[in-house]
Amino acid sequence: MSESERMPICQLLIWDTNFFGMRIARLLSSTLSSDIADRAESWCAENRIDCLYFLAGTQDPETILLAERYKYSLADIRMTLSWRNKSQAAVFRNDASDEIRPARADDLGMLKEIAGDIYTDSRFYFDRHFPRELCARLYETWIEESCKGYAQAVLVAQYHRQPAGYITCHVHPEHGQIGLLGISPNARKLGIGAGLIRAAVDWFEAHDLSYVTVVTQGRNIAAQRLYQQCGFLTEKCELWYHRWFNPPAGTPE
Ligand SMILES: CC(C)(COP(=O)(O)OP(=O)(O)OC[C@H]1O[C@@H](n2cnc3c(N)ncnc32)[C@H](O)[C@@H]1OP(=O)(O)O)[C@@H](O)C(=O)NCCC(=O)NCCS
Repeated sequence: MSESERMPICQLLIWDTNFFGMRIARLLSSTLSSDIADRAESWCAENRIDCLYFLAGTQDPETILLAERYKYSLADIRMTLSWRNKSQAAVFRNDASDEIRPARADDLGMLKEIAGDIYTDSRFYFDRHFPRELCARLYETWIEESCKGYAQAVLVAQYHRQPAGYITCHVHPEHGQIGLLGISPNARKLGIGAGLIRAAVDWFEAHDLSYVTVVTQGRNIAAQRLYQQCGFLTEKCELWYHRWFNPPAGTPE
């Protein structure tokens, strides 16, 4: 057996499995060959996997061809954008929020209310095998955990003295990362999103991080234009596929 054959091909994702109540795993390769695809099929059968996530690069035509042949469904185009303070001038509009400040414990209810409804461009909402109420809970849980320490900072924008949007900041050794950004539908197109991005970039710079990344969806034109307007440039484009072995009853095959 070669060394590559001894390497694990997939990994069970415990958090996703517990959260969605289905056995979910991830393929540990960004490319497909017939050998990798066959080994993944066997691993998933042995481990009774319901859904396998596969994050593919876009450069290898064989990977895309095999993904289609092996019934992987395209769920999202994953766009990574980045901002570097030295090379990129950020153009920010004035934001219309009354105030941007760190999140407080009593914001949580409002933040969860905003988060539950707005991430309809995500791969979970797009893939109709995931129940919509669980997709909503996923983002409610994400913002809640972010406020409880998963993120190093959560900044909240107020509009008419109510929390109207938030942005989460994660610190990595070499870069900052924006996690979740969300604006209440009734406070959009007022510059609040741009104001929150400016505040997050300021927060990262105050923590000596001048390279900031964010991930959004290829179908999320509003978010891409917002980040582009704030000086972020496209850094990477990848494809999220979901391979369903055992779709939940009552959902499409
Ligand atoms: C994307 C989102 C954060 C924008 O927030 P916002 O406060 O409305 O954005 P702003 O008012 O600061 O807009 C700044 C720029 O973003 C772009 N933009 C914002 N909404 C847009 C839309 N619906 N369509 C196209 N461009 C849009 C525009 O370039 C805009 O500048 P302009 O007003 O001069 O045209 C908000 O629509 C949202 O919360 N969407 C759902 C959650 C989401 O997608 N989050 C980001 C995922 S990573």
